[in-house]
This record gives sequence, C-alpha cells and structure tokens, in this order.
Amino acid sequence: MKPDEQLRRLARERMITSTPGQAWPNRLMSGTDPVVTLRPIRRSDARVWRAVRRRNQVWLSPWDATVPPGADARPTTFGTLVRRLAKAARRGTTYPFVIEVDGRFAGQVSINNIVRGSAQFASVGYWIDQEYAGRGVMPRAVAMAVDHCFFTAKLHRLEVCIRPENTNSLRVVEKLGIREIGYAPRFLHIDGEWRDHRIFAITREEAPRGLLARLEESGGDASAAR
Ligand SMILES: CC(C)(COP(=O)(O)OP(=O)(O)OC[C@H]1O[C@@H](n2cnc3c(N)ncnc32)[C@H](O)[C@@H]1OP(=O)(O)O)[C@@H](O)C(=O)NCCC(=O)NCCS
Repeated sequence: MKPDEQLRRLARERMITSTPGQAWPNRLMSGTDPVVTLRPIRRSDARVWRAVRRRNQVWLSPWDATVPPGADARPTTFGTLVRRLAKAARRGTTYPFVIEVDGRFAGQVSINNIVRGSAQFASVGYWIDQEYAGRGVMPRAVAMAVDHCFFTAKLHRLEVCIRPENTNSLRVVEKLGIREIGYAPRFLHIDGEWRDHRIFAITREEAPRGLLARLEESGGDASAAR
C-alpha cells in the first residue's frame, strides 16, 4: 500500500499526522466523505491559490484582512508571502496550513500570533473556497488544527475573532462549542476599515479529548447536542 493510501485508511478512524509529535511542519488528515487534509502552504500552490482567490473575491472580501493606513504594505508576490510564512513557521510563531478536500486545494486555516512562555496562546484564522462551503469542512479543519495545537504543539489557549455580521463563521465556532469570551471594538482592519469583533476562545481543559472527538460525537454540531 502506498503511504498516501495508508494515511487515508487510518484517517477513517481518527485524525492522523504524517510526523507524530512534531508541531511543524506536519500533515494532518481526517474524515472519509470528504477526506480533509491540512498541510503546510508551499510556493507551488501559487497558481491554484491565485485562481481560487480570484474566483472567490466577492465571497471573501468582506472578511479579508486589509493593510491599515501607514502600516507596511503586504508582500507583492505569492512567493514572497510563502517565504515569509515559512520563516515565521520555523521561528514557531505561525502554522500556515492549506486545507485540501479529497486532495484538492480548498482554502486555508492558519494558527497565528503563537505566544509561548506563560501564555501558550495563539489565534486561528480561516477561509474556504465557496465551492466547498456548507459541507462542514471548516468545523472539521479548525477542530484538527486546534487539537494539533493542544496535543502536539502543547499550546493552552486558542482564540477565534469574528465580525458580528459573519453568520457563517459564527456557525463554525458554535458547531465546535467554542465559548464567547468578549467583544473588541475596532479590533482588526478588515475590508478597508477597523471592524468590531466578537471574541471566542477555548482552553485545553475545556476539551480534554479534543475538538474533533467532540464534533464527531455530536454529529457535526456540538451546539445542537447540548
Ligand atoms: C466561514 C466559513 C469558513 C465556513 O466554512 P464552511 O466549511 O462552509 O462551514 P460549514 O459547512 O459549517 O457552514 C457554516 C454555515 O455557512 C452557511 N453556508 C453553508 N453553505 C453556504 C453557501 N454555499 N453559501 C453561503 N453560506 C453557506 C450556513 O449557514 C452554514 O451553517 P449551517 O450548517 O448551520 O447551515 C466560510 O463560510 C468562509 O470561508 N467564508 C468566507 C471567509 C470567512 O468568513 N472567514 C472567516 C473569518 S472569521
């Protein structure tokens, strides 16, 4: 059996990682229909990334981070962006995962602002190609990323910040049973303005067996199971 087929077979039963015990780089896989894989972003994603982002401009722009006036401009090429992300990942401050659905590029889930020391904290950002929306892919992808952060990277607390208008994203944290902890006025520069955000967070103690187990046991919606 080829290694990829073996990983897929194992992923039917639970989340598996290609390099057990390693925070980064790593490849995580779970689910059967569809198979969801998280793997490091790479320079060879350039063509598909550009095509997907172009096709999804209207879908993504209300939720996309923008550069505030006076701040440093973004990298101008995808290659530069990936190089910067890879460097930050080597320093351990970010884990920039691509999401694949049945082996095809479908979006990103990124663990950002990783702080060690007494905090052991990070924030989670995500988006998916509209073509794959509504199939529960993102709740699964976020559960996989959070479990990896808790159990392999040994982080303690993960945070998700969402604009109050973003009902689709609010469903993601709801399905995962991630608690709302506060409200941050004018928190992030999104779609050209400083935008208020609702803050959701989870600590390791709140999900002792992980978010993926919780999601699967609830049939894909922990809010409905309560
Ligand atoms: C938020 C997002 C990641 C959710 O991903 P997903 O894989 O579709 O998640 P789900 O399948 O659980 O769907 C969540 C909700 O989106 C809505 N939805 C589902 N399919 C949809 C579609 N094709 N078009 C619009 N909305 C849809 C539904 O309300 C769904 O909730 P429900 O399952 O209770 O009906 C995705 O909508 C997205 O990428 N949006 C744009 C970027 C973004 O908002 N990023 C997050 C910033 S905080």
